[in-house]
Amino acid sequence: EKGGYDYFMLKEIAEQPKAVADTLLGRIGTDGRLTLDELRIDDSVLREIDKVVIVACGTAFHAGMIAKYAIEHWTRVPCEVEVASEFRYRDPILDAQTLVIAISQSGETMDTLMALRHAREQGAKVLAICNTNGSTIPRESDAVLYTHAGPEVAVASTKAFLTQLVACYLVALYLGQVRGTKWGDEIVEIIHQLADAPRQVEQVLETMEPVRELARSLADAKSVLFLGRHVGFPVALEGALKLKELAYMHAEGFAAGELKHGPIALIEEGLPVVVVVPSPRGRSVLHDKIVSNIQEIRARGARTLVIAEEGDEAVVPYADHLVRIPQTPTLLQPLVATVPLQVFACELATAKGHEVDQPRNLAKSVTVE
Ligand code: F6R
Repeated sequence: EKGGYDYFMLKEIAEQPKAVADTLLGRIGTDGRLTLDELRIDDSVLREIDKVVIVACGTAFHAGMIAKYAIEHWTRVPCEVEVASEFRYRDPILDAQTLVIAISQSGETMDTLMALRHAREQGAKVLAICNTNGSTIPRESDAVLYTHAGPEVAVASTKAFLTQLVACYLVALYLGQVRGTKWGDEIVEIIHQLADAPRQVEQVLETMEPVRELARSLADAKSVLFLGRHVGFPVALEGALKLKELAYMHAEGFAAGELKHGPIALIEEGLPVVVVVPSPRGRSVLHDKIVSNIQEIRARGARTLVIAEEGDEAVVPYADHLVRIPQTPTLLQPLVATVPLQVFACELATAKGHEVDQPRNLAKSVTVE
């Protein structure tokens, strides 16, 4: 049932183009309009929403962080995102105009379930983004948008994450569509690129051999840092989480701009630092800032592993290792930028002799608070 792969995780990484395609299927019309009829929340309700609050745990939380950038930029509706385990204990401000989005692969995560119950008690509308049909979280929500990743067996989430991103982008775009906000050329381009994401993910998967080789060479590293800006920041957090859970290594993700506020003190000779570089097209200020960040850490001895778009020549002089990803708008970049980080963690853990499908101390579905 591993389909010829040694581990479910490898199989699930390889299934990502299909998982993304299946999650997009039937939701983008030929005219570029979205149809999410299954949502079961009336468009009039979505027009009245004045705030979005996303709750989730772990990898699903990282998807939520990325969703915040997309929702606020495309719809101008304020969006907060919080780890579900903290949410209800701080008495969050919620009312009937709040749309709470609960993201969960399993649909059984207790922290997320308790957060959504709290939200509904306060009168908020809850939309679940979930991969498991008929599980508790969608059953207790007002509405659900299913991801179609298929069953995810490996404990570490991979294909579910990419489909959570797709679902978040669809919800953000749909909110924009029904509210009539910002429906210009940028959105047309985004929808076009989103439809092309399965092909781009496939393209990344085909070029992963150097990443595997690099991962094996780092099996003895004590620590790995991950840096990103904008949506690259949650991608960095996700890369670090994968490495912690699979390779049992110290790994940390930072917003690259925060480096100078403390973490740069960690940089020492030979420390591997993975940097996720935003597209030089579009918001190019961000790109230039991260190039300076790479220069700063390299000057202090870091071994830089740079993930950058094809055609981005500015990073070349500062990259000890360069991983190319296809050109895509920065907001969608996590769909392609996360894949090398999954492969990296999986290969490094395998090189250390770890059981990647069943990491120690972890369970696939966390049904206790
Ligand atoms: C990490 C991982 C966990 C889950 C988290 C939420 O690879 O798998 O961090 O993402 O426990 O699980 P779900 O999405 O089932 O609510």
